[in-house]
Amino acid sequence: MCGIVGYIGTRDAYPILMKGLARLEYRGYDSAGVVLLSDHTFNLYKKAGKVSELDAFTKGKNTSGTIGIGHTRWATHGVPNDTNAHPHLSNSGKLALIHNGIIENYATLKEQLTKKGYHFKSETDTEVLVNFIEEVKIQGNLNLEDAIRTALNEIIGAYAIVVMDIDNPDVLIAARKGSPLVVGIGKNEFFVASDASPIIEYTKNVVYLDDKEYAVLHRNGDFTIHTLGNVQMTPFVQELQMDLEAIEKGGFDHFMLKEIYEQPRALVDSIRGRVNAEDGWIKLGGVEEYLNRILKANRYIITACGTSYHAGLLGEYLIEDLSRIPVEVEFASEFRYRNPIIYNDDVVLAISQSGETADTLAAIEIAKERQALVYGICNVIGSSIARATHAGSYTHAGPEIGVASTKAFSTQVVLLILWALQIAEKKGSISTSYLRRILFELESIPKKIEEILKQNDAIREIAYKFHNAENFLYLGRGYNYPVAMEGALKLKEISYIHAEGYPAAEMKHGPIALIDEQMPVVVLATNESAREKIVSNIQEVKARKGQIIAVINEGDEEIRAMADYAIEIPSTEEILTPLLTVVPLQLLSYHIAVMRGANVDQPRNLAKSVTVE
Ligand code: AGP
Ligand code: GLU
Repeated sequence: MCGIVGYIGTRDAYPILMKGLARLEYRGYDSAGVVLLSDHTFNLYKKAGKVSELDAFTKGKNTSGTIGIGHTRWATHGVPNDTNAHPHLSNSGKLALIHNGIIENYATLKEQLTKKGYHFKSETDTEVLVNFIEEVKIQGNLNLEDAIRTALNEIIGAYAIVVMDIDNPDVLIAARKGSPLVVGIGKNEFFVASDASPIIEYTKNVVYLDDKEYAVLHRNGDFTIHTLGNVQMTPFVQELQMDLEAIEKGGFDHFMLKEIYEQPRALVDSIRGRVNAEDGWIKLGGVEEYLNRILKANRYIITACGTSYHAGLLGEYLIEDLSRIPVEVEFASEFRYRNPIIYNDDVVLAISQSGETADTLAAIEIAKERQALVYGICNVIGSSIARATHAGSYTHAGPEIGVASTKAFSTQVVLLILWALQIAEKKGSISTSYLRRILFELESIPKKIEEILKQNDAIREIAYKFHNAENFLYLGRGYNYPVAMEGALKLKEISYIHAEGYPAAEMKHGPIALIDEQMPVVVLATNESAREKIVSNIQEVKARKGQIIAVINEGDEEIRAMADYAIEIPSTEEILTPLLTVVPLQLLSYHIAVMRGANVDQPRNLAKSVTVE
C-alpha cells in the first residue's frame, strides 16, 4: 500500500526514484509523483495513474537534482487525482513531504492551521501534516529536525514520511510510526523506501527504522537515528539477503504466474533445514525456546487477514486434529476491536506475508499487552510483525510481488503443518512413525505441484469456457474448505467476478438457491474421508443444472464422469491436500483474469500490504 522512495547523494536522483517507484508498483496505488531539489528550486511532478504516465509527463522537463523523493499514493483522504497525489508542499513552498498512512487528527489540525491563514490545495491529510511541520518550525524558530520531531509528537495516526527542505538541500529526514520504512546506506549516499526492492540494486546495507524513530541523512554520508522522544539510537545495519533477480519477472507474463510456478521451489525453501524425515524431527525457530509455554497453553489463537486468514483456518484444522489443543481463528480487524478474551497463558499465532498489515500488528499489540506469547509467521524478513512478535519463523517464499497471494499462502500452510506436527509430537498425540510418514510425503509435495502445473493448458481451456461468468461458487469439506474460501478470494481479487467459498454441506442452507445453468461450481472433491458426501453435493448441483469443475484425485473416474470438467491432483495425505488443491484454483483465477483483460498483478482498489486500518 503506497510506495515511498527517497534519495540523497551524488547521482541523479530522478532515475533512481522512478525505478524505485516502478519496483513498488506491486504494492497497489492510484497516482504517483516526484519532487527534485536543484538550484534552490523544487521541481514537482504528480499524476493520477501509473508510474509510466508520470514518466511520460516529465519528458523534456527539468528533472535534475541529486536529492529527491517519490511516491505512489493509495488514496485514503481525497479522490485519486493529480492534486491529491504526493509529494505535497508547504504553503511557503519550502518543505516537501511524502506520506504513507493516515493522520487521524488531521481535521483538528487543518482547522487550527486554516485559522492561522494556511490554505490547502488538496483534500489530503498529508498536506495538513507538511503545513503543521512548517507552522511548528516557524513558531518555535526550530531547525528542520527539531520541527519534525516536535510536530510528530502531536500527530495521532500512522505514517511513514520523508521530508525535504529548500533551505537544507543536503539533508533528507525520514520518520515512521506504523508504516514501514527502510534506509539503504551507500557510499556517501542514502536511499529510503517502503521496502528493500528499490534499494537492492545499489546497496545491500540497510537499517529498518523502528516505530517512532526518525533518520537524518546527510549528503556527506553521516546519518543519525533518534526516537521521537529524542533519544539517539545505535543503528543496526543489516545485510539484505534478497537478490535482484528474485524481484524481476523472469520470462513470465505476470508476477502472479511466476509466483504460482515458484511454489515447488518456495516449498523446498520453507522446509529446508527444519525437518528430518529419516530421523523424524522438526525444528522451527522459536518453538524450542518457548516450548514449555507452547505445550502448556490451553488454547491457541490465530489471527490474520485475507489469504493469511485462510491459512490460519487450515492451522485450526491441523492443530486441533493433530495436537488436540483448541484453536480459535480471528480476523485481526475484528480481534483488535471486539475486546477479545485473551489469557496470559494463550499462544497467539500471527500470520502475515508482508509483516506490515496494520490490523494484524494491532492485534499483536493487544495480545502482548495481555501477556500472551505471540508467535509470528511472516514472509518479509525484518518486517514490523517479524520484529513485534516474541518468536517466529519466516516462510522463505521469497519476494511476492503479485498483489494476489499465492506462494506466500502455500508456504504459510507448510509452516502451520510443521508447527502442528511438532507440537503434536512433543505432546505425544502422534507417533514418530506417523510423523515420519507425513514428513516423507511433505518432501514429495513440490514434485506433485510440478505435476499439477503441467496441466496449465487444460486449466486455461476451462478458464476460457467460464471467463464470462458473473458468479462462481467454490465448495470444499474439511481441509478443503479453507481452500475453497481462498479459491473464491483469488477469483474475485483479480477477475472481479463475484465468488463465494463455502463448506460443501452448507450449500443446502442457502447458496443452493443461486444454482442454475449459469453457475459454475468448483468442487474440491479429493477428501477420501468424506467421499460419499462430496458425491452427494455434486449431484445436488447437477440436479439444478449447475456446471461442475471438479478437482479430483488422480484416477477418480467416478467423479470425473459426474463433473463437466475435471482437474486431477496426485494423491497425498489428507492433511497435505490443501498444498495441492489450491494450485489449480490459482491458475484458474489467473487465466480468467487475463482473458477478461484485468490487471492481474495490480488489481483495482487493492494494495499488496494494507498498512492502514
Ligand atoms: C491476498 O491475495 C490478498 N491480497 C490479501 O487478502 C492479503 O492476504 C491480506 O491483505 C493480508 O496480507 P498479509 O499476509 O501481508 O498480512
Ligand atoms: N493518507 C494519505 C492520502 O490519502 C496517504 C495515503 C497513502 O498511504 O498513500 O493521500
